[in-house]
Amino acid sequence: MNDADERLFLGASAEPQYLELRYANRHGLVTGATGTGKTVTLQILAEGFSRAGVPVFCADAKGDLSGIAVAGEAKDFLLERAEKIGLADYAMGPTPTVFWDLFAEQGHPVRATVSEMGPLLLSRLLELSDAQEGALNIAFRIADEEGLLLLDMKDLRALLTNLAERGREITTTYGNVTKATVGAIQRRLLVLENQGAENFFGEPALDIRDLMRIDRDGRGFVNVLMAERLMTSPRLYATFLLWLLSELFEQLPEVGDPERPKLVFFFDEAHLLFTDVAPALIEKVEHVVRLIRSKGVGVYFVTQNPLDVPDRVLAQLGNRIQHALRAYTPREQKAVRTAADTFRQNPGFDTAEAITQLGVGEALVSTLEAKGVPSMVERTLIRPPASRMGPLRPEERRAIMEESPVRGIYDRSLDRESAYELLAAAAARKTAAAEDDGEDAAKPASRPASGRRSDTAWEAGIKSVVRSVSSSVGREIARRLLRGVLGSLTR
Ligand SMILES: Nc1ncnc2c1ncn2[C@@H]1O[C@H](COP(=O)(O)OP(=O)(O)OP(=O)(O)O)[C@@H](O)[C@H]1O
Ligand SMILES: [Mg+2]
Repeated sequence: MNDADERLFLGASAEPQYLELRYANRHGLVTGATGTGKTVTLQILAEGFSRAGVPVFCADAKGDLSGIAVAGEAKDFLLERAEKIGLADYAMGPTPTVFWDLFAEQGHPVRATVSEMGPLLLSRLLELSDAQEGALNIAFRIADEEGLLLLDMKDLRALLTNLAERGREITTTYGNVTKATVGAIQRRLLVLENQGAENFFGEPALDIRDLMRIDRDGRGFVNVLMAERLMTSPRLYATFLLWLLSELFEQLPEVGDPERPKLVFFFDEAHLLFTDVAPALIEKVEHVVRLIRSKGVGVYFVTQNPLDVPDRVLAQLGNRIQHALRAYTPREQKAVRTAADTFRQNPGFDTAEAITQLGVGEALVSTLEAKGVPSMVERTLIRPPASRMGPLRPEERRAIMEESPVRGIYDRSLDRESAYELLAAAAARKTAAAEDDGEDAAKPASRPASGRRSDTAWEAGIKSVVRSVSSSVGREIARRLLRGVLGSLTR
């Protein structure tokens, strides 16, 4: 593309439509009913960013995006569309791609440590009650104070068992942590493990710089999270993406408004992020989305209906691509009107009416132009992709993974000394000491210590910090503190 340096060609109607790279970090929204062209739109955006040297992260929820890694077939309907929209230099070609998979089946494994995930997101993941979340916060706090690394699930489980056994000592120092509460958290952990999340927690943890690679020709890599299986655990999916977004937010430096984004992050099936979530989390999403822009990250939500996205998040999404919506029921009609109202109107047509009439692969487009003002909405035939629409064959994916720039980095898991090992060793020492005292020491060495340890080094100041952790802000601060301490240790 001649224009690739400053803008991406999206398609055309009366006029060609572009996405300006310098406003691409002002986020975006792709919406439309099933089968209207959202995934292909995501595909042409990802291709365009890659060509412009911008790495991309996206999820493949249905398995139909992986074809982005190989050249498409020059079918007649694609060539016709290209001609219709004046895409003179339309040529088929692959996009440099890295596949990831939380379950390590269809891509490189993606891992995070338990401490990186932090108690706030983990509580959401486990669907904990307030009391359980409070107990989990205390567990993280104690791990921090006692120098116990929380890397994987067995670290967390060992720590929780240890807390339950220490009982009163914990309660007097930190607040109430009952055996029943700990038991409930343990059961929730088991549910998560049964979903296959066990592999996700551990090391080597994902280094976000590996999502920001550029190939030898200066094209950005498209990181595709293979998410078909993950979508069967929507909460894990949404929490994982949220975690990734907050990692990017916390780790990337401020860059102001760059000429082009450093990374573009697509959040497919975005309604999963916002349904049935605590206000504290919505606040967090809003906060991260607002501030991540100046770190050069553009976030694009992809969902069926703009009503899926809370107003305050919606207000921050400057670049809009609206595919067709149906308008049979009153509720659908309302959604259409709401969607229409968010655009800068075009006197040439009625926006609401147009939304219901759009063909497949056609959309209403409005992007940010000079000075960041939204362009007048235009009915636009979206450009055809250069890569394949649809899935890769397994052997094709294997070949691409063979060439992957991160090959060998994540493929095998590591198991360092952490909470589980330390607690087990402490228990073993205790058992040995008890034997020396001639006591009965039938306790198996692998069980964590049943501490009668009186860690009274805990002074009033610390206690009050921990108590403040009951507010969501306090929790967030506590999480940051933990991150600061543990995050640097785990890297
Ligand atoms: N820009 C385009 N150029 C050419 N064909 C397109 C384009 N957009 C969509 N199509 C055609 O429409 C089909 C459906 O599009 P797509 O898979 O993107 O829909 P979707 O909105 O993602 O659907 P779902 O909600 O079911 O995931 C594609 O397989 C392709 O044949
Ligand atoms: Mg789709």
